[in-house]
Amino acid sequence: MTASPVLVTGGTGTLGRLVVPRLQDAGCDVRVLSRHRHDGGDGIEHVTGDLSTGEGVDAAVQGTEVIVHCAGTTKGDEVKARHLVRAASRSGARHLVYISVVGADRVPVASAVDRAMFGYFAAKRAAEQVVAGSGLPWTTLRATQFHDLTLLTVRQLAKLPVIPVPSGWRFQPVDTGEVATRLVDLALASPAGLVPDIAGPRVYELSALVRSYLQARGRHRPILPVPTPGRAARAFRAGANLAPDRAVGHRTWEEFLTAKVRSPA
Ligand SMILES: NC(=O)c1ccc[n+]([C@@H]2O[C@H](COP(=O)([O-])OP(=O)(O)OC[C@H]3O[C@@H](n4cnc5c(N)ncnc54)[C@H](OP(=O)(O)O)[C@@H]3O)[C@@H](O)[C@H]2O)c1
Repeated sequence: MTASPVLVTGGTGTLGRLVVPRLQDAGCDVRVLSRHRHDGGDGIEHVTGDLSTGEGVDAAVQGTEVIVHCAGTTKGDEVKARHLVRAASRSGARHLVYISVVGADRVPVASAVDRAMFGYFAAKRAAEQVVAGSGLPWTTLRATQFHDLTLLTVRQLAKLPVIPVPSGWRFQPVDTGEVATRLVDLALASPAGLVPDIAGPRVYELSALVRSYLQARGRHRPILPVPTPGRAARAFRAGANLAPDRAVGHRTWEEFLTAKVRSPA
């Protein structure tokens, strides 16, 4: 526990929303940084700022010792990390905890084709390096795809009359709540550098994930395997985004899907 508020960037997002109550349960005061204005009244201090421009970030880090950096988008996470570490260094933060993705160091993003499909991995890797080179005490956890994102992906694909699925792509989805619990444990411990990955209990072909969703919704659609070009896609097919030796997550995709289909909200 820490006497000063813990800053959670991305505290309004899928992961961050689960990190915040876990920190509160551990007795921490929590401050959330968001680009949008939020009313108080939930025991959380809300601060408005934008990590892409740096606006409001100095005020957000002021007086915090521990920062859990969950803010992220598909592009530009290295820029967000840079603005955050500059402000955190000025304010004297003593622990920066970062959530990255399994494969950040193994998916080679060299060509324009690689970048178009896998630029996210390169940005996460660059952000990891910003954190590690910041001079701040840090901890970085890499996670595989969250069940929630997997569901979003298969739900979008399932809207198509014929579903194109990249051949050979596999995922090892992990429960977002389990990642949040691990992040909070890390935030409340001493800075540990790059820690062992967190990955879901099973590996699935993307086509199998799509099929399981269709089946749960009682739908039938043809699935069309499509090839994906480039070095990054090759690494992906070889399993660069998987961590079978770190299958420490408990909740399976099937359990998650059953709960979601029963209560679609
Ligand atoms: N989803 C996955 O499967 C997965 C897997 C491994 C790692 N991760 C990493 O986990 C983190 C959280 O992912 P998520 O799925 O929870 O994302 P999400 O649901 O899309 O939420 C993104 C969060 O980032 C904040 N944000 C985005 N741009 C910002 C900016 N310029 N300034 C300040 N805040 C900004 C958003 O806050 P506002 O909109 O309120 O400003 C929101 O709270 C990301 O770093 C992601 O790369 C995700």
